Amino acid sequence: MLAQARIWREQGLTIGLVPTMGWFHEGHLSLMRDALNRANRVVVSLFVNPIQFGPSEDLAAYPRDLERDRKLAAAEGVHVLYAPEAAAMYPQGFQTSIRVADLSCGLCGPSRPGHFDGVCTVVMKLFQQTRPHFSIFGEKDFQQLAVIRRMSRDLDLDIEIIGHPIVREADGLAMSSRNIYLKGQERQQALSLVRTIDYARQRVAEAAQPLVVRDLLAELGSRLVHEPGCRVDYVAIIDETTLRPAETVNPSCRLLLAVKINDRVRLIDNAPLGGWNETAI
Ligand code: PAJ
Repeated sequence: MLAQARIWREQGLTIGLVPTMGWFHEGHLSLMRDALNRANRVVVSLFVNPIQFGPSEDLAAYPRDLERDRKLAAAEGVHVLYAPEAAAMYPQGFQTSIRVADLSCGLCGPSRPGHFDGVCTVVMKLFQQTRPHFSIFGEKDFQQLAVIRRMSRDLDLDIEIIGHPIVREADGLAMSSRNIYLKGQERQQALSLVRTIDYARQRVAEAAQPLVVRDLLAELGSRLVHEPGCRVDYVAIIDETTLRPAETVNPSCRLLLAVKINDRVRLIDNAPLGGWNETAI
C-alpha cells in the first residue's frame, strides 16, 4: 500500500482516504463518492480494528463480507480497497497507542473505555500507510470526527480532515452497519433517536428566546423513558468543537445521543440544533 501511495505522490496525484470497518451501506458509499469528487486516487480501508472494541463488545459478531464490499467499492470507482490482516497491523510486540486526552473522555468515552485510543492508533497507522492528502469521516460518529481532527492538528499531520453529513434511511434512522442487529420491533424502537432529535429541533425552532440546555435535556430525558425497549446511555447538548456542555442552546450546539435498544444494540445519533438566533427574527 505504501509503495503504491508513494508512486501516486511522485506522480503528483492527490490521494483521499476513507477509513471503514466494512459491511458497506449508503453512508459509506456516500463518503466514497465525496472522496472520488475531490481526489485523483481514492483508497478505502476496510479493517475491523480489534483494539477499538471493548471485551464485552461485538468484535466477533461484527458483520463481515469482503467479497460483497469489494464489489460495492469497485462499482463506485474506488481505486484501492485496502484490507490488511490484523496480524499485519498489530504484529507481536506492538505497544504504541495514541490518545487524545480530553475529547475522548465524555459522551461515548465512559461506556467504551479505550475505544478512541484504538480508533486514533489505527487511523494514524492508516494515514502512514496510505499517505492521503485528505481523509473523510462521517458526522454520524461526531465524537470520533472531533477526536481525529484534534489528533491531526496536535500531531501536525498535514492531512485535511473532512466531515460528511449523516446519511439516513427513508424513515430517518441513521445508517449503520450495526442496524443489522435490530430484530423485529427493535427496528421501530430504534426510531426513538430520530424522534428525540426532531422534537428537540422543533422546540428550538419555536422558542422565542434561547432555551436553557438543562431544561431541554430534562424534557428529552422524560420523553425517552417512555420509549419502549430504549435505555439511555447519554443525551447531551454540546459545543461542536470542544464537545463541552453548553448552557443555553446557540447555533454552534449539537444534540448527541446514545441509547441501547433492548439492552442489546447500542445506537448513536446526532444533529445540529440550529438555535435561537436574534438576527433571524
Ligand atoms: P465504520 O463504522 O465502518 O464507519 C466508517 C465511516 O463511515 C466513519 O467515518 C463513519 O462516521 C462513517 N459513517 C457510518 N455511518 C454513516 C452514516 N449513516 N452517514 C455518514 N457517515 C457514516 O468509524 C469506523 O468505521 C471506525 O471507527 C474507523 C474510523 C474506520 C476506525 O477503525
